[in-house]
Amino acid sequence: MHLTRSHYRILMSMVAALGMMGFLTVVAYVLDESLDATNQHADGKTRNAQTEVKIDNVQRPPVMKSSDLKERLSVTPKKPAPSVEIEMKSGDLKHIDREKALVLGHTRKDKGFLTIGIPASHAGGEDNLEQTLKSLIQNTEEAERPRVTIVVFAHDFDQSARQAVRYVVGNFTEPVQSGMLQLIEAPLSFYRTPEAQKNGQVKENLDNAFLISYSENLSEYYLQLDDSVKTVPGYVRSIRDFINGQGKKYWVTLEFSSKPFTGKLIRSGGRDQGQLTHLLVEFGEKLSVGKLYESFKKFNAQKQPIMHRPPLFDNLGNAP
Ligand SMILES: *[C@@H]1O[C@H](CO)[C@@H](O)[C@H](O)[C@H]1NC(C)=O
Ligand SMILES: *[C@@H]1O[C@H](CO)[C@@H](O)[C@H](O)[C@H]1NC(C)=O
Repeated sequence: MHLTRSHYRILMSMVAALGMMGFLTVVAYVLDESLDATNQHADGKTRNAQTEVKIDNVQRPPVMKSSDLKERLSVTPKKPAPSVEIEMKSGDLKHIDREKALVLGHTRKDKGFLTIGIPASHAGGEDNLEQTLKSLIQNTEEAERPRVTIVVFAHDFDQSARQAVRYVVGNFTEPVQSGMLQLIEAPLSFYRTPEAQKNGQVKENLDNAFLISYSENLSEYYLQLDDSVKTVPGYVRSIRDFINGQGKKYWVTLEFSSKPFTGKLIRSGGRDQGQLTHLLVEFGEKLSVGKLYESFKKFNAQKQPIMHRPPLFDNLGNAP
């Protein structure tokens, strides 16, 4: 279909009215319509009715107050960041203070190939986290290590639980010193809504949004894992080969595990990442992270999962 001037005007006014979410809906609509149009031409029928966007489970965005909208659309902070602690707004991904978030390790100068994000909780068990990190580090070939970064996110609210995670990560002395392994924490103000404090699903979605946003541009690609997986020798090379093997084929996300949100890879720092984190923040109350990930694929018209076989990441407990 062609974008005429009036299409464009409608598009832009919807963008203004609904913000980013509205824009995604329109994008989904346009994609849907052009696919339909192609099908209609194929069977010789004409079409005139507008098709309703069909995105399972995702509700239309709530109408925003204009004050919200202004905040949402403002890209640059009004004042330069003061050196005292900034009170983060809940779910505010634009003002992540990376230096403050980083508890152990350091950021490398050069952009890497792969950043692996692991939300880690004391409740998940320190043994599991230790086994997971061991498996990831040992199975990364020497030559790949400078271009792989593992970011562990201690997301418990409780300080002693965060401390337990810190203890495990700190024990991996060499990877922490080389910059391969980083431990981060989020300021409590990031979760300052009653929902985020009480509702585990909202918190989990916010956690993932924070981790993905923190990891922005550390590497070309971002891979989501959890704190209870094991992998296989040469997994980084397998991931690289799989990405290269896609060639010019369209994709927004590749899958390396059959778990709902674990082992999923996206491009870091671009439009795809922005959309995914936006969904996690805006729809955290309605949908689980696994469902939001499925919606992310649908929004981007990636109809089929693109899955590496065999999966490269398995539950720690499972037999090899
Ligand atoms: C830390 O490392 C030492 C030596 O490798 C090991 O014996 C110990 O169990 C580790 N402790 C934790 C909490 O990971
Ligand atoms: C990441 O890279 C993109 C593209 O170069 C850029 O627009 C964006 O501002 C970068 N983000 C950060 C946090 O550096």
